[in-house]
Amino acid sequence: MTAGPLGSAGHVVVVGASVGGSRLAAGLRETGHTGRITLVDPDPDAPYDRPPLSKQILAGDWDAERASLGDPARWDAAHVVAAAAALDTGQRRLHLDDGTRLGYDRLVLACGAAPRTLPGMPRGGVHVLRTLADCHRLRAGLDRARHGRLVVVGGGLIGAEVASTARARGMDVTVVEALPAPLSGLLGEEVAAELALLHADNGVRLLTGTGVTALLGEPDVTGVALTDGRVLPADVVVVGIGVRPATGWLAGSGVPLHDDGGILCDAYGAADAGRTVYAVGDAARWYDPLLARHVRVEHWTNAVAQADAVARSITGPEPVPSGGEFFVWSDQYGGKITVLGRPGPDDDITVVRAGGGRRRFAVAYRRGTRLAAVLTVNWPKALLTARRALSAHGGADDVVTTWKAL
Ligand code: NAI
Repeated sequence: MTAGPLGSAGHVVVVGASVGGSRLAAGLRETGHTGRITLVDPDPDAPYDRPPLSKQILAGDWDAERASLGDPARWDAAHVVAAAAALDTGQRRLHLDDGTRLGYDRLVLACGAAPRTLPGMPRGGVHVLRTLADCHRLRAGLDRARHGRLVVVGGGLIGAEVASTARARGMDVTVVEALPAPLSGLLGEEVAAELALLHADNGVRLLTGTGVTALLGEPDVTGVALTDGRVLPADVVVVGIGVRPATGWLAGSGVPLHDDGGILCDAYGAADAGRTVYAVGDAARWYDPLLARHVRVEHWTNAVAQADAVARSITGPEPVPSGGEFFVWSDQYGGKITVLGRPGPDDDITVVRAGGGRRRFAVAYRRGTRLAAVLTVNWPKALLTARRALSAHGGADDVVTTWKAL
């Protein structure tokens, strides 16, 4: 039985005050919720936006204030600095690690994900990058690097952006990636291999198809031993080998979890039949009716779209599906990479290269005649036309013709 519309007096508790949780609080107020809202997050710096952590703040171009998502008081929300520790869905009660118990009418799990680590961590000079505190620590580590040598383990989005930021400050950077090309799972191997050339273009060494056997040096890191036998000297190591949903505390709560820790939700983000518990963002695995499976998406735009939908589901009479499109952007080496729509493993691809001194290209992923997804690299005009073509459900040939004429 569903719990029905909340009514204005209900208490909404949101676990996680990053972009998903903050957007949820804002969305509740925008859609007329007048009852209590409580945001719970153990991060004393929250709420702040994460994209600048690997770019502007790490580079020292922005101070932390610029990444702030705003004081929760702006949404008339209470902010509790503590971690959720256990959940009693029967009693509708959330237990925090400081002993507090919070009753709720609706609970939204926007608890995000935690970085995966390597054996031998924690160790001096070895960093992950997820929080503002991580960013400050890494920046200080880069400042102190005696020989200016950075090894980045993992060539995904964190790895590439950190490599780019560190290279811009003149460091000697090597990226170690286990796959034949970073992001090949998302983009396909051929396209991922071309994208990876951006590193070499900008003076960053990319070693692919190799993992790490050990972090060397005691107490501080001095190098990284690779599975191919090489040893890379390092003053600083950044480990960006993916994340795992921060949902261990939900074990035994009855909230359904996927093997990867993602919270299994229906097509509206609800994790229970009564629609009292929802999940959004990196930790959530929503049912996608088009793909006929549950999907977890670790990107900013998805967290925003899901939070907006859940806010409307909570305040409105009917559940609202997420209206978000699949969109990823990454700023690297002074340019921009975008992925619009979700490339499929069986899509045919057409690559169109633009002229000019730097690497600029766009890729159309076609499913039959349909344009299914697009990658653009340092080519804003191609992104603009692709966005129009995708929202008009245009043909792949048309967008390729347009790109060639740009
Ligand atoms: P990721 O999943 O994007 O990339 C991890 C990479 O590490 C993969 O290429 C994987 O093959 C590689 N890898 C895994 N184990 C390895 C090992 N032992 N040795 C060498 N390589 C290994 O995760 P990442 O970069 O850690 O980012 C974390 C999260 O932050 C992701 O959810 C990501 O989407 C998000 N993020 C998003 C950004 C954006 O949208 N622009 C920027 C930065 C982070």
